[in-house]
Amino acid sequence: MDDTNKAAAGGELAGLRESAEVGESAGIRESAASTAYVHGYSDHEARRLGDQADTLAALLHAGTAYPAGSRVLEIGCGVGAQTVHLVKASPGARIVAVDRSAESLAQARAYVAAQAPDAQVEWRRADLYGLPFADAAYDHVFACFVLEHLDDVERALAELRRVLRPGGTLTVIEGDHGSTLFHPDSPDARAVIGHQIRLQSAAGGNALIGRELQPLLAGAGFDEVAVRPRTVYADGTRPALVDGFTRKTFIAMIEAVRADALRAGLTTEADWDRGIADLRRSAEDGGSFHYTFFKATAVKGEGEGEGEAGASVGAPVRAAAAASVAHSRNAGSFRAVSSSAGIQANNLMPGASRAASFA
Ligand SMILES: C[S@@+](CC[C@H](N)C(=O)[O-])C[C@H]1O[C@@H](n2cnc3c(N)ncnc32)[C@H](O)[C@@H]1O
Repeated sequence: MDDTNKAAAGGELAGLRESAEVGESAGIRESAASTAYVHGYSDHEARRLGDQADTLAALLHAGTAYPAGSRVLEIGCGVGAQTVHLVKASPGARIVAVDRSAESLAQARAYVAAQAPDAQVEWRRADLYGLPFADAAYDHVFACFVLEHLDDVERALAELRRVLRPGGTLTVIEGDHGSTLFHPDSPDARAVIGHQIRLQSAAGGNALIGRELQPLLAGAGFDEVAVRPRTVYADGTRPALVDGFTRKTFIAMIEAVRADALRAGLTTEADWDRGIADLRRSAEDGGSFHYTFFKATAVKGEGEGEGEAGASVGAPVRAAAAASVAHSRNAGSFRAVSSSAGIQANNLMPGASRAASFA
């Protein structure tokens, strides 16, 4: 998408505010939901999600294609920013997209209709903790930037596993703010990123969840769990990435929590503004910015029904994985920036026997 079209698409996403007549409401508590979601549902966030998805589509969606006729569930579809890329990569798949926000779903419906007019997507309003679908209703489940906002990831994964058929696949894409490296480095800039991490944690989420995907999925009973880092690196030689990712995705996300950080007493106006100004230098001449996303794929074992995971031979491994996640969660909400040396996007394929291609 060129810049003109992208700006138009972003405006289109942000401008849509029709009332939603989307699917059914399955146990939704909109007011509680709205306050707990760290990014909120503003026009700014809708634009940011569009910029993020379009800038990162090649990196994050590479290898994800579902066969014609397969039943695909996208959870936490938001304003449809990832749904567009799903339908383009898998034009024949029967995609059902779910979110708890009626407003986001209305935007998603209009956005996908504009960007992919032939797409057949069923939009459903539902809480992913209690999906209105039968056991084994789907061949594939896809979730992007959703688990990081949940206060009970284990429960969510159990529900996703329930609606997946044996042999079906789960694809999860998450970030990890601890993977952020930038030049010029600055303690003030690192501090504002730390404030966003703390606020997301206070809302029940985990902005450092990328590194935990393997134990989380294994602990939930999935097989063939494979996690691949997908690294974004932007400097002056890649102006589109500097603009689309460093500025409009990452810095825009941090800037959006300014009021919350001040209200929570995490920072002062002067400290915040100094940190953001320093962070912006990474998007200027001579600056650079690095971030790693984590893309996980997994399979629901053949012949496994709901609740059988704990009884399988893999149970001790899964229990250990779950314990490892619980331990790291209790260890504090902000961990030091991890070393990302040697991690790159790659094209290794897991579960070669699966009907879908994913990486
Ligand atoms: C960061 S947005 C990501 C949207 C989209 N996947 C993307 O990448 O652009 C997270 C989405 O998850 C949704 N969400 C969070 N908790 C949910 C829940 N319990 N049930 C359904 N949707 C939920 C939010 O409403 C929001 O639209």
